[in-house]
Amino acid sequence: MTDLSRPDTIPRTAALSEAKPEAIAPPLWLLAELTYRCPLHCVFCYNPTNYTDHSRELSTAQWIDVLREARALGAAQLGFSGGEPLLRDDLEVLVGEARQLGFYTNLITSGIGLTDARLDALKAAGLDHIQLSFQDSTQELNDFLSSTRTFDLKKRVAASIKAHDFPMVLNCVLHRFNLPHVDKIIDMALAMGAEYLELANTQYYGWAHTNRAQLMPTAEQLQEAEAVVNRYRKETGERCKIFFVVPDYFETRPKRCMNGWGAVFLGIAPDGAALPCHTARSLPGLMFPNVTETPLREIWYESDAFNRFRGFGWMKEPCRSCDEKERDLGGCRCQAYLLTGDPANADPVCDKSPEHERVVQVVRAAANRAPEQPLVKEQPVLFRNDANSRRLASAPDGHPPDHPVSRGDRT
Ligand code: FES
Repeated sequence: MTDLSRPDTIPRTAALSEAKPEAIAPPLWLLAELTYRCPLHCVFCYNPTNYTDHSRELSTAQWIDVLREARALGAAQLGFSGGEPLLRDDLEVLVGEARQLGFYTNLITSGIGLTDARLDALKAAGLDHIQLSFQDSTQELNDFLSSTRTFDLKKRVAASIKAHDFPMVLNCVLHRFNLPHVDKIIDMALAMGAEYLELANTQYYGWAHTNRAQLMPTAEQLQEAEAVVNRYRKETGERCKIFFVVPDYFETRPKRCMNGWGAVFLGIAPDGAALPCHTARSLPGLMFPNVTETPLREIWYESDAFNRFRGFGWMKEPCRSCDEKERDLGGCRCQAYLLTGDPANADPVCDKSPEHERVVQVVRAAANRAPEQPLVKEQPVLFRNDANSRRLASAPDGHPPDHPVSRGDRT
């Protein structure tokens, strides 16, 4: 097994030599993570568990420079995310600038702080689209999973979004707790007039990885939920498009993560670090360039961080000689790191990986626990909050083996 204490286990040279600048396509999708601050404390948040180590935020002028540089590079889709992007009071200014530059803009929000006044201002600024998250169809579970009392407020916000005539995606992260409620979640989305419903099964990064044992569903739960989704799809047709993505752990081939490292996605963290995927910051041995110090063009085309896993030269066996490598590109680098300790390994979701058994064991452990087991009392989840982030940040590997109950432990 790879030694996790070694900071740099990644081969540095091969990908750089293979990925020549002229072969690199421009980024299409810019994700502006405006802040890590968030009024919610979701147990599956994909933000880094040590987000309190990165609390600095770019200024309005610095974000505007990012938008201009990214648009000049070719980026066309722009997501404003976080944390909660509404905690930035310059959001409307940034949306207005993005609109002028010609971006298609999407606000990815919990809805907390999305008042009618702000909806008016965002409409005037030219915002195109809103993605609103719910944690469940019931107040009890929605409020438990986010460690807040926000369910009723979210429902009011959903109605206001529609009253302002925004296209709306409802997003609900699925896991062991709420998979049995999929029919009710769909009913809720239909009643709210959502054009899209994203039923995103939890992928195990960030806080979700820390809470994996509690969140991991059984195969039966997933099959039943998928059958429900398919039934609804037939009934609702085009009225509401329903997306349902199975968690990686239940697949035997890995996903083509981010459509390839440094291929289309460019994420900018609140402090200006440029990232090839949401969770890249967790990888060891990579220095992520900062937009306050390096032009975006140079970051995208020339930086070691963005070139490290482009092409095929970085691959080890079994990916290197695999006849499917062009399809999945070896899977997800962050998942390979989290599960094997080496981001250059095959994503162990793949059953050709010699470490696939690690995934199988996690799924088997979930199957051996009755779905109705009262998990919360017996095995507490770890909420995303500043106190827990600081504890995780100071742990030797970022994931202390034993963490005490933090239910209701809010910042
Ligand atoms: Fe980072 Fe897949 S999430 S490469």
